[in-house]
Amino acid sequence: KNIVILISGGGSNMAAIVRAARQQDWAGRHGIRVAAVLSNREAAAGLAFAREQGIATEVLDHKAYPSREAFDAALAQAIIAHDPALVVLAGFMRILTPAFVERFAGRLVNIHPSLLPAFTGLDTHQRAIDAGCRFAGCTVHEVTAELDVGPILDQAVVPVLPGDTAQTLAARVLAQEHVIYPRAVLAHLLQK
Ligand code: GRF
Repeated sequence: KNIVILISGGGSNMAAIVRAARQQDWAGRHGIRVAAVLSNREAAAGLAFAREQGIATEVLDHKAYPSREAFDAALAQAIIAHDPALVVLAGFMRILTPAFVERFAGRLVNIHPSLLPAFTGLDTHQRAIDAGCRFAGCTVHEVTAELDVGPILDQAVVPVLPGDTAQTLAARVLAQEHVIYPRAVLAHLLQK
């Protein structure tokens, strides 16, 4: 079973999944491997990590396509080439068209840095702090056509501490993302 991971930046969630797969021997025990890491940004730092791990990488620059539909069609082709059992969005900062989401329905997941359904969209940490939340967290969910909604697969909660900034809270949440994402990806693939 192949996993294809999509990133746009640091790719720390992708790295956490790659490390878990290696440390827990997903390939030997479950026949699960990370087949490719794709990005819409050549500068994505996560690409270097993937290449060091010997994982196939590919960059599709969304600015090189005439429309969102054209980019998504090219992205879908690049993904299909790896015969994915699961497509993992990990810090992938593109809104995907309904046609793309439909094509991968049931095998497309994302991680969002809030306790969904609270705080869909961007700037989740600052918004939680501004709202006076005592807790924040992250959510792994199935991707549907509506942004940051979809069946919840896993969550983790962290305290919002006095004096927290968006940066300090983001770091605390990110550490939990690295715990729940590998766990949720494996669970999703083992259920199939
Ligand atoms: C994380 O906050 C994640 O929740 C969001 O993108 C941010 C960066 O993730 N999806 P990564 O370090 O690129 O995996």
